[in-house]
Amino acid sequence: MTSKTILVTGVAGFLGSNLADRLLQDGHKVIGIDNLSMGHMSNLKTASEHDHFEFIEGDVTNESVFSAITKDADILVHLAAFKIPRYGKAIDTLKINYHGTENALEFARQRNIKCVLASTSDVYGKNPDVPFSEIHSNSVIGSSTTPRWAYAVSKLFDEHLALAYQDAYGFPVTLLRFFGSYGPNQALSWWGGPPPVFINSVLNDDVIPIHGDGQQTRSFTYVSDTIDGIAAAIYKDEANGEILNIGSQEEVTILELAKRVKAVSKTPGELKYELVPYASFSKSNYEDVMRRVPDVTHSKKILGVSAQVSLDDGLAKTIEWQIKAMEERGFEKKGS
Ligand SMILES: NC(=O)c1ccc[n+]([C@@H]2O[C@H](COP(=O)([O-])OP(=O)(O)OC[C@H]3O[C@@H](n4cnc5c(N)ncnc54)[C@H](O)[C@@H]3O)[C@@H](O)[C@H]2O)c1
Repeated sequence: MTSKTILVTGVAGFLGSNLADRLLQDGHKVIGIDNLSMGHMSNLKTASEHDHFEFIEGDVTNESVFSAITKDADILVHLAAFKIPRYGKAIDTLKINYHGTENALEFARQRNIKCVLASTSDVYGKNPDVPFSEIHSNSVIGSSTTPRWAYAVSKLFDEHLALAYQDAYGFPVTLLRFFGSYGPNQALSWWGGPPPVFINSVLNDDVIPIHGDGQQTRSFTYVSDTIDGIAAAIYKDEANGEILNIGSQEEVTILELAKRVKAVSKTPGELKYELVPYASFSKSNYEDVMRRVPDVTHSKKILGVSAQVSLDDGLAKTIEWQIKAMEERGFEKKGS
């Protein structure tokens, strides 16, 4: 692809910062937006040293952040969002994921440019039939009285809104359903999912907190694989109008993840963990998803890439990064 100018929202976050580095490396110009609510400028250390990177501190729910951009942009990648309201804050999830996405789509409409949007594996909800297919699987969402479903519903709304914009205004959109990505620049709290929390516990010889009985499964995806998927979705016209799963098919239980983190860390002593009942951290009937694995047949066909990094290899690289990151910024409470 010839050099493009790519606008990335949520650029100081985990995926945004890794994507910015990749796009700059591939010879593109990147304009990044982030309000730094969950992201860190330290994630943008490499990008900031690049002449072709520009950072705008701003809130995507504020339309003027987009209208103030005078430069041409060829593609918009909208990653800024608020994730699962595990500890409350469903209002942030719903408002940011609605208003932010509407503003992003309006920008893409006005410029008539492709928009790649972050969705999530959570939209499959508690559908018991794995692996989840973008084409055949239904979204099975729990009661509206359980706030955690606000995230899945907000992303499903975003998907519908994006496809409706494409239909009404004729510019292409691509929707990416990410499955549990982890790796360098991940949030060092529950915001980054179980991997950073388990790594932190193991490195400090603490007890790993495991929600429920630990038998729920996930397919953790090393960040370089996730970024390969996003980059292919940006570059390939075949991805236009598609919904695509981006994730590893290596399914592990959460208890197995704890064991693997302990083994890969090569720290002395036995694995220490405790089972934490959902009721102890959520006032509102927290419902977990019991199995989560993608079917990647469709995305592999469209994008020509699929996850390659094994969980053990990915954990080894992540632990190496996290040791240094924890020295620099400590373990965080942000979005705990
Ligand atoms: N990481 C994963 O495994 C995963 C899984 C499923 C879906 N996703 C989706 O991918 C996207 C990126 O996720 P991530 O893991 O990098 O999350 P992240 O929280 O690390 O990054 C999101 C970034 O958006 C910024 N942001 C939040 N609200 C904003 C606002 N109103 N205005 C401007 N910036 C704002 C945050 O400061 C943060 O830097 C999100 O849309 C998320 O829902 C990620």
